[in-house]
Formats: sequence, C-alpha cells, structure tokens
Amino acid sequence: MCGIVGYIGKKQAYPVLIKGLERLEYRGYDSAGVALLENGAFSVYKKKGKVAELSKFVKNKNIKNFSGGVGIAHTRWATHGIPSDRNAHPHLSNNGDIVIVHNGIIENYLSIKKVLLKKNYKFKSDTDTEVLANLIEDIKNNAKVSIDEAVRLALLQVTGAYAILVLSKDEPNTMVVAKIGSPAVVGIGKGEFFVASDATPIVEHTKKVVYLEDREIAIIKNGKLRIKTIDNKIKNLYVQKLETKIEELEKNGFPHFMLKEIFEQPESLRNTMRGRILVDKGGIKFGGLEKFGKELRSLKSLTITAMGTARFTGLVGEYAFEELAKIPTKVEYSSEFAYRDASVDINTGFIAISQSGETADTLNAVKEAKRKNMLTLGVVNVIGSSIARAVDAGIYNHAGPETAVASTKASTSQVLILIMLAVYLGRMRDLSKAKAQEILKEMQRLPNLAEKILKNANEIKKLAKKYSKNNNFFFLGRKYNAGAAMEGALKLKECSYIHAEGINATELKHGPLSLIDKNFPSLVIAPNDSMYEKSKTGIQEIKARGGRVIAVATEGNREIKTIADDVIYIPKTLEILTPILAFIPMQLFAYYIAVERGNDVDKPRNLAKSVTVE
Ligand code: AGP
Ligand code: GLU
Repeated sequence: MCGIVGYIGKKQAYPVLIKGLERLEYRGYDSAGVALLENGAFSVYKKKGKVAELSKFVKNKNIKNFSGGVGIAHTRWATHGIPSDRNAHPHLSNNGDIVIVHNGIIENYLSIKKVLLKKNYKFKSDTDTEVLANLIEDIKNNAKVSIDEAVRLALLQVTGAYAILVLSKDEPNTMVVAKIGSPAVVGIGKGEFFVASDATPIVEHTKKVVYLEDREIAIIKNGKLRIKTIDNKIKNLYVQKLETKIEELEKNGFPHFMLKEIFEQPESLRNTMRGRILVDKGGIKFGGLEKFGKELRSLKSLTITAMGTARFTGLVGEYAFEELAKIPTKVEYSSEFAYRDASVDINTGFIAISQSGETADTLNAVKEAKRKNMLTLGVVNVIGSSIARAVDAGIYNHAGPETAVASTKASTSQVLILIMLAVYLGRMRDLSKAKAQEILKEMQRLPNLAEKILKNANEIKKLAKKYSKNNNFFFLGRKYNAGAAMEGALKLKECSYIHAEGINATELKHGPLSLIDKNFPSLVIAPNDSMYEKSKTGIQEIKARGGRVIAVATEGNREIKTIADDVIYIPKTLEILTPILAFIPMQLFAYYIAVERGNDVDKPRNLAKSVTVE
C-alpha cells in the first residue's frame, strides 16, 4: 500500500510533492512525510496522520522558501511499526547520506537488521524500510559505488514486494526507483521527472510515462532516464501516453469523492459500454479478446478470483456465466487461489477482477493461473496497472479514476462487464441472437435508470438518518442479488463502521435469524423477479420476529409497502441486470449514514484504496 512521490527538476520540489501526496492519499493515510535535498543535506518533515497534518506542520515552521528541486515523499499504510512520527517515511540512513521512501514489505528485514546491528548501525524506527536505508548505506560505503549501484546490490539481498525511491546527498542529480510487486511510474517532463505509485500525481505535469516492470530499476541521472534490471541488464524505455484528464481527479463541487463517484455512474456505465454493444448483431465487441477466439470457444469452465467488492461483483457474474453462456463458474478469493492447490484443467478460463489492478492477492492469483497455463483474463479499471499488464487479455472498465476508498462506480461497471462477457461467451455457444439483443437493448437503458435512482438520493438520505443509530444490519438477497447484498453490507461497514452482514436471504432461517430484534434491521433486495415471492416470505419472517425491514423493490410495487417498514424503489429491468441498479441505493445509504455519523467517508479508518500487500 502507501503512496510514493518523487520530483527532480528545476521547480521547487515541495509543492509538487505535497500535491502528489494528496492525490495518492487514498492509498494509505496513517502518516506522511517529505524529504528535500537542500544545500547539500536532507530536510525531512514527517507527521502522523493525514497529508493535511503534514502540510500544517510544515506551514507552522514558517519556512520562507524551499530551495530544493529534488525530493521524495510518502503517505503510509503501516505494516511494520505503529503509525507515528517516528515510523513515518522518509527514512534516513545512519549517516544521513541516504534517504528512502518505501511501499510494501521487506520480508527478510530482521536477518538484515541483525547483521547491521553487529556493525553498530542504530535504528530510530520499527520499520523494515529503515533497515533497507542502512543496508544501502553500508554497501555504498564499503563497495565505493554510486547510489544506483548500491541500491541494485542491496536489492539482490532483499526478499519481499516493494517499490522504493532513493536519494543520496552525495549525488544530488540522481534519483533511483525500483520495484517488485508494488507499482511505480516515472513521468517524463521537460528537463524534469516525476515518480509516483500511480499516474494520478503525474497527470497534471506530463502525459509521457514509463511504467516500471518487476525487478527493474529506473535511474534518473543528470536529466536522463535509464532503466536496468536488478540483474544489471539494460532495458529499452517504453514511453506510454496517459489518457486521464485532470478534471477526473477533482471533486467537482461534491463534498466527497464517494458521492461524486456514485453520481458519476450513469456516465461510467455509458463509458463501459461505449463502442462495445452491437445490438443489430446481438453481439459484443471486446477488442482485447479478439485474438483469443479459439481458446475462448473451447473453455469448459471458469474461475473468477478477486477480493472485497470485486469478489462480490464476481458472484453476480457467476450466475450470468452459467445462465447465458452455460459455463460452470466458480468464484474464489484471489488469496486462496494463489496458495491452495486448485485443481484446474487446460480448458478452465481464469478471470481476475480488480478496480486498481494492483491488489497483491489478485496479482498473485494471476501469476498462479499463468503458471497453471490457464487463459487469464482481467477486468480492470486502472489502465496500465500491474494486473492489466500481467493477464493474457484484458477488458478495461473505462469507469474513470475511482478515488474514494469505498468502491462504487467501478463495482457497477464490473457487474456490467461480466454480464457483457457472459453474453459474449454465450454467443460463441448457444445463446440466441434474440435473447442477446433483448439483454443488450436493456443494458443500454441502464445509465438512464441509474439517473432515475440518483434523483431520489434525498429520500435515501432521510432513510439513512433514521437508521444511522443502529449498530447492526443484515443485507439480504437471492440469486443475482445475493452478491449485491454482500456488497451492500461491505459498503455500510467500511464507511459507517456499523457491523453489517450480507448473506443469501435463504440462509437466514438456518441461524442468523436468531439475531433479529427491533434494533437489528435488515435491508432486503426484493425486486419483482423470479425470487420475489420467496423474498417476500423472508421479509415476513423477519417482521414476525420484531425486526425492521427496508426493502429495495421494483417501482410500482405497492404491496411491499404494506409489509416492509421502508421501501427504496428501483426501476424495472431484466432480472439479470437488477444488481447493477440495486448497488446504487445501497451505496447512497452507506454514504449518508457515514456522513451522519461524522466519519471520514473517503478515507475510512484503517483502510487503504489499493491493497498491495498480502
Ligand atoms: C471496496 O469498497 C473495498 N475498499 C475493497 O474491498 C476493494 O474492493 C478490494 O480491496 C479489491 O480492490 P481492487 O478492486 O482494486 O482489486
Ligand atoms: N513496510 C513499510 C512500513 O511499515 C511501508 C508500508 C507502506 O507501504 O506504507 O513503514
């Protein structure tokens, strides 16, 4: 996790770095820090808490002018040592010659630390990072090599997943970046370079970027960028063009990114479908899949792996693949697939779903699937991310940057892509053109239907106020909406810190029902679909035990008002598409409750947007 930013050029580094940290704060926010190379020495400012705390701390120092055009910065998500000023990055080496920021984990830091302790190195923090800083110093001094070579030699001794950014005061015109597992991007400006964990801090400065591959080191020296591997092989620069626009990274008048992103869903759903829906042919166009026609036709089963929200969208996808493409499908935690001995055969296709494209568990699952010779597909939102680059073929969500830690617009886009993919694979098999056309036509209405739900946001806000004092919640649904219920519960718990459980409604009577009383409300997704009668019975069973129920029901259903305590209406659509609409009011419900409870909605406690550690 965590965000790293670096700048080397003619500008003042400090404002560039602070702005960059703000953009990356979603990745980790328990402490932040900056190191600037000024007049031959490092000035290091670090503070526990969010980037705003760091800015305040630096402002209070009344520094008139930062002279340095070189600096590195970090926003942390602690793995080794509590969040504190002391453990915050950047970390200096013992003699103060070297400074480092680090994303990830150095697994063998203890054994390296032991050796360094014997050599009388002192440690001021509990982090694995400081160990690496001192290891680099030790190598640099003993081997009498340049900073880039010292970093390379140090990394040969290190195991783990990381991205690091290193400066040495003896070589003020050099910045060294390296990575394994965690992401790192270098932005190329005019006589200046930017480094960051992802492209968001770079977009406003330059559109030219180089994504580092695993085991690569980028050396920016005297205005030139070179890349080599940790094993000292020179690599060619592959410069890519960034498509993200700066407006997409701003809040545009919304109080929070989460609300902005919820309200962007009509547009993100449109963008997910743009140029891909071929109603006349009853087909879908996925450019990235075209060259795999033969392999996709011969798939006999599918394994979907993902984590968190992405796994819940996978659960909706599972039903779609079986119904439309008749392909047996299972959904696994990526982390389990990566470590258990999953039995798959050559005709099992693999789908990884990930908004960020950086989730370590999911990236590991992709690697394992490749090792098993499976055809690997990715449903990924962030263009150029590690998972997008690792899979054989990818489908981008095109939902636009998602900044709030709680996933919203990416999740509805994921469900939509999976249903589109089910139609795509179905049409390679038995799915009739007429049935496909019916689904595709209805899909195209989704953005407008989403708009209709959003117009009702104030009603959901009132409801959120009414239920904001409860400490427990069930979210219930059947079939396509079972996964949706799980997602609804996750949204509520991560934003509002209310305990919420999402379960298949049918499971309720097998145990969870015993928890129901007047203080334990349930949100039941009960649209007019093949499961409606069963959902209705479920609601009645809860009511009979004194529980309160919010029903998410189809517009026009008056009957449900007589059974449930409160009703949120969603427009009528095909059963298979209902979860996309059901997600939206649950996102708003979680958002408004979190605001009501005074939580930091965009950055819930203890979490980070991109989970790049296992
Ligand atoms: C979503 O609201 C969560 N914060 C989290 O569960 C997330 O979906 C999960 O970490 C997976 O992330 P990814 O889609 O970037 O792989
Ligand atoms: N392992 C390092 C630490 O705990 C880096 C964590 C991060 O990625 O923020 O400080």
